[in-house]
Amino acid sequence: TTGLLADRLGRPLRDLRISVTDRCNFRCSYCMPKDVFDSQYKFLPQSSLLSFEEITRTARLFVAHGVSKLRLTGGEPLLRKHIEVLIGQLAELRTPEGEPLDITLTTNGSLLERKAAALRAAGLRRVTVSLDALDDTIFQRMNDVDFPVADVLQGIEAALAAGLAPIKINMVVKRGTNCHEIVPLASHVRERYGPGVVLRFIEYMDVGATNGWRMDEVLPSAQVVQRLHEVFPLEPMEASAPGETAQRWRYRDGGGEIGVISSVTQAFCGDCNRARLSTEGKLFLCLFASRGHDLRALLRGTQADGQPYTDAQIARAIGLVWSERDDRYSQLRSALPAAPADSGSGERRVEMHYIGG
Ligand code: GTP
Ligand code: 5AD
Ligand code: SF4
Ligand code: SF4
Repeated sequence: TTGLLADRLGRPLRDLRISVTDRCNFRCSYCMPKDVFDSQYKFLPQSSLLSFEEITRTARLFVAHGVSKLRLTGGEPLLRKHIEVLIGQLAELRTPEGEPLDITLTTNGSLLERKAAALRAAGLRRVTVSLDALDDTIFQRMNDVDFPVADVLQGIEAALAAGLAPIKINMVVKRGTNCHEIVPLASHVRERYGPGVVLRFIEYMDVGATNGWRMDEVLPSAQVVQRLHEVFPLEPMEASAPGETAQRWRYRDGGGEIGVISSVTQAFCGDCNRARLSTEGKLFLCLFASRGHDLRALLRGTQADGQPYTDAQIARAIGLVWSERDDRYSQLRSALPAAPADSGSGERRVEMHYIGG
């Protein structure tokens, strides 16, 4: 094991985000706009997806390199059949120090009411629910499939009841679409759930190449904090871990904490320790990458003598790729004028539903 693995900018590898499906039952305009992801869109065939055994094997090799946190994403991860079986396998992994991993999942909440108890029983510790508005009309405009907000709220209640804690709620803020929901959602979380649920506001990002991102639809986090502070006075908190995405704030009255994720106005690449494993087993070193490294080819392929690759060989390949990493897209973006939808090299940036949020 190499706890000392670092990339070219000295950043360790700590967080592996695993996309388990590229499909979703929502069509959020910032992620899978309906006009692109329509009935003609070709999602990955079942045979392309990593199996649970392949995912668990890969995760184990990442853990040997220092990963202590796993996040299942998609698409919508709860759409992957028998996801609790995968969680059960991942829950058995241990760090080199013998500790269990921090295993979590990002969901749109639509299937959470049905699945929360089974997820908890399988070994999931906590969950992050995406929720962009409390008002049903605005929420349905965001998910674009007429999904009612009440069902997501039921899912959150079920997750709380199942003991998945702490729960985080992620709201992507789009100026002109849901920015008037900031205060209502914050008061709902404070009043209804209390300090056990952490609401986080995410700046709308130029991820992928299909969402038609424009800077004028980004509401800078500083303004989110200011708007909240006027209603519920806030004070800053210390970061809880290096490389964290969110800046934390607490309500002065003890009503809990919130976070802001400011990838656009305050890039946090400096200590980014996140790797992403796509649905079909490609390793991506940045959310804004246009190319991944094909780990599935190693998992399924054979060497010249016909033998499968060993764990040690695949682990070495992962270590090499990470040690060459120099990605820091968000930092470069803020140094440059308006970013093009391709990465500058003429290649298309990968989509977030495929690489995993
Ligand atoms: P916690 O441990 O629960 O705090 O996880 P996290 O901070 O990694 O948060 P989460 O996975 O909920 O990420 C929230 C959102 O932040 C994602 O959906 C993305 O929009 C954004 N995000 C997460 N990681 C990155 C990253 O590496 N780069 C950028 N630019 N954005 C990120
Ligand atoms: N900007 C910011 N966050 C995004 N997500 C997806 N697309 C974007 C985007 N363009 C994140 C949101 C959502 C999660 C599944 O992915 O946090 O909750
Ligand atoms: Fe689905 Fe989440 Fe993307 Fe919305 S943001 S389309 S819920 S994967
Ligand atoms: Fe990490 Fe890339 Fe996000 Fe920067 S833009 S924080 S390097 S994933």
